[in-house]
Amino acid sequence: MYTQLQQRGSDHPPVTINTLAQMRAAGEKIACITAYDASFAALVDAAGVDVVLVGDSLGMVIQGHHTTVPVTMDQMVYHCAAVARGVQHAFLMADLPFASYTSRELALANSVRLMQEGGARMVKLESGASQLDIVEYLTSHDIAVCAHLGLKPQSVHKTGGFRVQGREEQAAARMLADARALEAAGADLLLLECIPAALGGEITRGVHVPVIGIGAGPDTDGQILVLYDVLDIIAGRKPRFVRNFMVDSGNCQAAVAAYVAAVRGATYPAPEHCF
Ligand code: KIV
Repeated sequence: MYTQLQQRGSDHPPVTINTLAQMRAAGEKIACITAYDASFAALVDAAGVDVVLVGDSLGMVIQGHHTTVPVTMDQMVYHCAAVARGVQHAFLMADLPFASYTSRELALANSVRLMQEGGARMVKLESGASQLDIVEYLTSHDIAVCAHLGLKPQSVHKTGGFRVQGREEQAAARMLADARALEAAGADLLLLECIPAALGGEITRGVHVPVIGIGAGPDTDGQILVLYDVLDIIAGRKPRFVRNFMVDSGNCQAAVAAYVAAVRGATYPAPEHCF
């Protein structure tokens, strides 16, 4: 009955929320990446990533929108279910899309959809002080939550664009306070996007849960990148934190394996990827 119990004794047990906490405690870097379909999910899983995120970045890299705002709940569930079919080992996290968590009840109903229909193990929401009661409500209903701080792509029309966050002293102090408050509200994981490397390190040291960074410097407990950036699929100007892992690899799986090795070996991110 308890398949997970049987798999726990195997050479390669599935990653759980406890694995991530143990990795943080042991100082082992956590390698995370996005995926949006079953084939790439199986590929990144086989390449050894610890966490697969079905990100609402799919609105940009799959659907061709300029932002993540148009992504709907039905689309997230569809892609999450496809990814879940490809993942065997990694921990599966999925984004709650724009306006899908504007009340506690809506957040709970949509998280349940991601878990029951999509197969997600954890939901991620773009968070700050205004989302504390939602995080508390979800965790009190046994839902594992990742709180996304820093650059919040769902808010770009309100904040005026994709910009590094937390550069000013006051904004940095507020982000650290928010991170601590979200942890106290029950968040099991934090994700920091596009902030100065020093602040990434300060927040990581200032909380007890694992912290994953994207453009947040080398001192977070792990890194995440959008798969299509790792594989250099998207043409044009890239954010500073992106590294093309395809350039020295013969194929997609080797590129993702090189990314995992660079995260684990702390050679990515290098100073040129940091703010
Ligand atoms: O949607 C997404 O892919 C994300 C990552 C950029 C962290 O949130």
